[in-house]
Amino acid sequence: MRRVFFEGTTVDDLKAYMGPFAERLGYKFNTEIEFVDEVLESELVVLERDGDVYCPCRVRVGDPKEDLKIVCPCIPFYLDEFAALRKCWCGLFIREDVEDGADLIGVIEQPEPGTQVDVPVCLVEDLQPGTARHVKVGKVDLAVVRVGEEVFALSNVCRHAFAPLDEGFVDGYALVCPWHGWRYDVRDGTTDHPNADVRTFPAMIRNGEVLVTVPLGRAR
Ligand code: FES
Repeated sequence: MRRVFFEGTTVDDLKAYMGPFAERLGYKFNTEIEFVDEVLESELVVLERDGDVYCPCRVRVGDPKEDLKIVCPCIPFYLDEFAALRKCWCGLFIREDVEDGADLIGVIEQPEPGTQVDVPVCLVEDLQPGTARHVKVGKVDLAVVRVGEEVFALSNVCRHAFAPLDEGFVDGYALVCPWHGWRYDVRDGTTDHPNADVRTFPAMIRNGEVLVTVPLGRAR
């Protein structure tokens, strides 16, 4: 996706290039237009000085490979972090479902790998009791399951032949695989097949949303 911007690049050029790219990843520009324009103006200064649109709120380390990870929009490199924050480091980009980005402005430091974060994955009303749905947190596919008023999250990939578990059905606390019927206990991911348990993640309901707690980055 790397692109060298031509001389005379404007804020509108950056918007035209970055907008559709961010959109494909589920993000959009902050709803605070003035803030967006200010950040993009700073990126043009950085472009002039350093040759690329490095995020103005990040520090370059001098290693081209590492520095590539802070060329704006850097969303693909920080999928977990941004999913948890609902925004990129400075709030230039926010998740597409955020209506008002005013509260999401402000530079965030990068959390240590392994830090636990609560990622909003869906509205409770979109997860009826006795159902499961697929969500993606960063690069990981999860099945989020509702049993009564409790919610659970576990790997969405069956350990038998890799079926998507969310396409199965919920039977009490069991999520039953759609292909050959293996049963996974949504509370701890266990099955009655040896060495075939799936990983679970803490899940909770807060303010009408379902959140899943995941450790960030390489430590997962
Ligand atoms: S793929 Fe899940 S039971 Fe066979």
